[in-house]
Amino acid sequence: MDLSAVNPLIAAGALAVPIGAYALVQLARLAVPGPHRQARFNFKDKTVLITGASTGLGAALARELYTRGARLILVARSIDKLKALCESIKESGPGHEPVYAYLDLAEPEKVDELVKLSHNGKIDCLVNNAGISMRGSVIDTDMAVQRKVMETNYFGQVAVTRALLPFIPSDGAIVVTSSMQGKMALPYRSAYGASKHAVQAFFDSLRAEERFGLHILVVSAGYIATELGNNALDASGRPTGVTDGNVGNGLKPEEAARQIANATERRKPELLMAPLLHRFTVFLRYWWPSLYFYSVWKRHIMQEAKEKKKE
Ligand SMILES: NC(=O)c1ccc[n+]([C@@H]2O[C@H](COP(=O)([O-])OP(=O)(O)OC[C@H]3O[C@@H](n4cnc5c(N)ncnc54)[C@H](OP(=O)(O)O)[C@@H]3O)[C@@H](O)[C@H]2O)c1
Ligand SMILES: *[C@@H]1O[C@H](CO)[C@@H](O)[C@H](O)[C@H]1NC(C)=O
Repeated sequence: MDLSAVNPLIAAGALAVPIGAYALVQLARLAVPGPHRQARFNFKDKTVLITGASTGLGAALARELYTRGARLILVARSIDKLKALCESIKESGPGHEPVYAYLDLAEPEKVDELVKLSHNGKIDCLVNNAGISMRGSVIDTDMAVQRKVMETNYFGQVAVTRALLPFIPSDGAIVVTSSMQGKMALPYRSAYGASKHAVQAFFDSLRAEERFGLHILVVSAGYIATELGNNALDASGRPTGVTDGNVGNGLKPEEAARQIANATERRKPELLMAPLLHRFTVFLRYWWPSLYFYSVWKRHIMQEAKEKKKE
């Protein structure tokens, strides 16, 4: 048999399968109604409110969206840091004057007043980014820590979203900084993982209510090199003051901000911003739970041994 005549056929066949599958997926995507059918989101001249903008990912998002032409409203508890950030953002080039305000997500009483900071009473894009983490076993961790993390990461986002939803136009967007721990839980982070699972469920519920078609992007962020580890509460509620290796070696916040901005513009419903192995673990959690639980237990023990060696 002459193989040279068969090979191109096999090659064409092998190519047709992935190309055909890709075309089918794209067709299916557009066949289903939803926010992904809207025109791209353009940050130029849009009012964007970012919570937790004083440091880390929130501050990086502020810088990125300023350069994309947004009118920024930045909120957090550290007013001095917000003021300094606004000054430094303005030095990066021409753009709309950013404004800032105090907001404690654990006590968000005056949250409806935030809309007064918008020049036209609209919030085109709400970025629910503020959050806090914790370190500690279920046994050791005070109930006060369990509640504080939930108040900030979950009820805080609920209160802000509920208050500002009427001011978000139908071609606007809501961006939510959740975590890979909103899809799978890790040991010694019970309150954090629970709060992020709750946030994921809350926004998935909202997606299918009367504002169906409103664009909501839930970002399942993997490790990002920010202050999150430093600010994380220990079992008794004090900031740990140390950055663990995972967070320290994470994605640069500037790179994370660019990916989130792009996914918002492209009307993506979800962004899993983590290495392939970590994204794969999400599937493992659902398809082979016992192996997943064994792996995260083992991983924790190995990391602990490594930390001990360093000391
Ligand atoms: N870094 C990571 O590895 C990672 C991974 C996945 C997801 N995330 C998520 O990314 C988001 C941003 O965190 P980050 O990594 O940038 O950490 P970060 O540097 O610690 O920043 C957290 C931000 O949240 C604000 N915040 C904390 N508690 C607050 C409260 N009670 N009221 C109002 N604002 C509060 C902080 O501002 P003030 O202290 O000034 O209030 C700060 O601006 C969080 O939702 C976090 O869960 C981070
Ligand atoms: C964001 O999108 C722009 C334009 O489409 C592209 O050039 C850039 O590489 C993207 N950046 C990231 C981090 O995805």
